[in-house]
Amino acid sequence: MVSLAVLAAMVQATDTVSSIFAPVSTPAIKERDLSVLVLWLSAVVFVVVGGLIAYNVVRFRAPPGEPGTEPPQVYGSAQVEAAWTVVPLLIVMVLTLSTARVIYEVQEAAPPPNAVEVTVVGRQWWWEIRYPKLGVVTANELHVPVSDSVVRRPTWLTLESADVSHSFWIPRLAGKTDVIPNKTNRTWVEPFRPGTYLGQCAEYCGTQHAHMLLRVIVETPDQFARWVEHQRQPAAVDPAVEPGRRTFLSIACISCHTVAGTVATGRYGPDLTHLMARSTIGAGVAPNTRERLRAWIKDPDDLKHGALMPAMQLDDERLDQLVDYLLTLR
Ligand code: CUA
Repeated sequence: MVSLAVLAAMVQATDTVSSIFAPVSTPAIKERDLSVLVLWLSAVVFVVVGGLIAYNVVRFRAPPGEPGTEPPQVYGSAQVEAAWTVVPLLIVMVLTLSTARVIYEVQEAAPPPNAVEVTVVGRQWWWEIRYPKLGVVTANELHVPVSDSVVRRPTWLTLESADVSHSFWIPRLAGKTDVIPNKTNRTWVEPFRPGTYLGQCAEYCGTQHAHMLLRVIVETPDQFARWVEHQRQPAAVDPAVEPGRRTFLSIACISCHTVAGTVATGRYGPDLTHLMARSTIGAGVAPNTRERLRAWIKDPDDLKHGALMPAMQLDDERLDQLVDYLLTLR
């Protein structure tokens, strides 16, 4: 059997495990501490109550063969009644006050002046990610700088929905926050360790709810600044892939997707300006390789049933050219 210490080490070591018990960000740490307190108190109540019941069941069971007689009845013990009123009252008060404190500290926190501002829009079934002050638009992979005890660099997130209700959840960075149409919610993360952390839509939003994944890439301030600088550039133009570029710009791709610097300015689907800087496609359903990208464009529904992107019915040659072009969007 795997011991608890080994399990905890595994949770710490791998980025693919998303556990609220391995927090690396201020709100998540506060929420973990509260959860542990609640679990301990509940465990004590369970052991005491369950133990007393078990003891009484065994100790006072009717001996075999003895006819059932009613035990002596006890009425009106002020001491016993006071005990079972006051003790639960104290427990509930501790739980209420500590929960209220964590909710207040997480929800009422004000962003420091250097906080990174990000708008995340939930869509069926992917995440649009905008940095309004930095002029960056991307999808499904949220880059944020790492915070430290000297300079805090939290990221404040404005959450909106373009269609139905979703829920934004990165277990190791912060608790769930609902993403609701016609309503703006706010949450924040403040990770203290670089790495990739996985998130997931946490409210049923249709066929592909389970495939609405989110990756958060926590970087050093230098790496983050370089990433922002690169994302602000218009799309690469490579004459070698001109046929594919022409195909892309002449068909319906451009009414849903943006490629900065071209006539493609659609906003219904993910921004493709730096498509190849992302490690997955289809909001985390497949690695972003030539083969999978080609399969995705050929028949999105095959990779992600119900996906709103239509198959463009291109012949193999044009499809290959189109993929060649997309591969240059680094
Ligand atoms: Cu979006 Cu579930």
